[in-house]
Amino acid sequence: MEQVEKTIDERIQGKALVTKNKKENTKKLFIESYGCQMNMNDSEIVAAILDKEGYNTTQILEEADLVLVNTCSIREKAETTVRKRLQKYNAVKQVNKKMKVGVLGCMAERLKEKFLEEEKIVDLVVGPDAYRDLPNLLQEVESGRDAVNVILSKDETYGDVSPVRLNSNGVTAFVSITRGCDNMCTFCVVPFTRGRERSRDPKSILEEVQSMVDKNYKEITLLGQNVDSFLWFGGGLKKDFKKASEMAQATAVGFAELLDMCATKFPKTRFRFSTSNPQDMSLDVIHIMAKHQNICKYLHLPVQSGSNAMLKAMNRQHTREEYMELVDNIFKIVPEMSLSQDMIVGFCGETEEDHQDTLDLMKYVKYDFGFMFSYSERPGTLAGNKMDDDVPFAVKKRRLQEIIDLQQEHALLRTQQHLGKTEEFLIEGTSKKNPNEWKGRNTQNTVAVFDKGSYKLGDFVMVKVEDCTSATLKGTAVGYSDNN
Ligand code: SAH
Ligand code: F3S
Repeated sequence: MEQVEKTIDERIQGKALVTKNKKENTKKLFIESYGCQMNMNDSEIVAAILDKEGYNTTQILEEADLVLVNTCSIREKAETTVRKRLQKYNAVKQVNKKMKVGVLGCMAERLKEKFLEEEKIVDLVVGPDAYRDLPNLLQEVESGRDAVNVILSKDETYGDVSPVRLNSNGVTAFVSITRGCDNMCTFCVVPFTRGRERSRDPKSILEEVQSMVDKNYKEITLLGQNVDSFLWFGGGLKKDFKKASEMAQATAVGFAELLDMCATKFPKTRFRFSTSNPQDMSLDVIHIMAKHQNICKYLHLPVQSGSNAMLKAMNRQHTREEYMELVDNIFKIVPEMSLSQDMIVGFCGETEEDHQDTLDLMKYVKYDFGFMFSYSERPGTLAGNKMDDDVPFAVKKRRLQEIIDLQQEHALLRTQQHLGKTEEFLIEGTSKKNPNEWKGRNTQNTVAVFDKGSYKLGDFVMVKVEDCTSATLKGTAVGYSDNN
């Protein structure tokens, strides 16, 4: 369990975030994020809002005037981590007495005012839809009062806020396209902490992508809890439009159309997206992926379980057979697609037979990557309220290890398929293990390391793959790709 959660944390956890500082800003903000990429992106929105209030970001906790922690509630462990961070802030506050502490995000939304009672260090509690209110809330705090805003919205998308890119490699960036989730999986706290699902105006999405392209970013990941249900209505009634062309522009835009628009408008930019819920995924999206070379051939397609009984108890709206059919169709349309899963073991009532169904489904798909968890009961969810968390800890642990081991085998099978091939990789940074090597990802999201040579960060490079582990390819760069 530890092993997998660590990988997830490395993937998504933002440490203290930094940005270019403005001279006229006099106050110091230390902001850090836990949880999903949406949280990372939300922190960039918060930094943009507070930049206008005179705050520069800092990486040094001890010198901060304001400390904000963007929190995750998805599993109990995520909340424990945040509580430990609050203890650390408390220690610092003993010395830096004027420092204020705010909690943002899902845990703020879940616990609301209770946070102020439970953790004396906290001055400010702000839910994911209330970040525009931060300037007012901070004034309250300045005048010595605690401040709370956890109102969820049906339409807030922060579409007009241009995020301050924090801790960025300057090459890859995230752009949020939907917020919230309406799916109500019985185990999941997200619909309660992030509210109703809403889509952002495609115009503002394209503008944000344009600004990233202008700044020389090479890869954009479109983000949402459930991107495939993206749906934007142009708004207005028929009588509001003077010309037919205006009307045509006002028709509904779904996720396939949005992807098509992005990939067509920015042919040199790579696009990825996450997350796809199988029940909302349409083959139109896969056809658009096939149509554009610059849409990466990688799909994160969480299934959670391979057992029909579990899928039903989880309120996932598809059977294992339907999921397998979807996977078959995906491979028919894009044979080189790479796939990843999220899987939960030990959900309420899970039997050995159910677990076997999960292993069998994994053997059928042979995922490239996987993110695996043991079930953690969340207060307020349907499962938390009505179902019995009856699988013993030791059984959960054993089942989790079994799916991790199987996933490792499949990951190796997948990386081996790249051996001997020459593929395009986008250089994203220096390899963690060797300062003389770059690390980059191919369209399938597989990481390769190779000698730096004369290549630069942000270059698209052709690499001959010569060796691999289950997680990483090793190769030699043989030239630039046509995409530069
Ligand atoms: N659609 C979301 C899913 C958010 S949660 C997205 O954008 O990724 C991410 C994963 O956490 C889920 O797919 C699920 O596998 C896992 N998860 C959610 N609730 C959980 C719980 N109560 N216990 C264990 N794992 C959980
Ligand atoms: Fe959670 Fe299910 Fe939505 S996992 S984020 S309720 S798709």
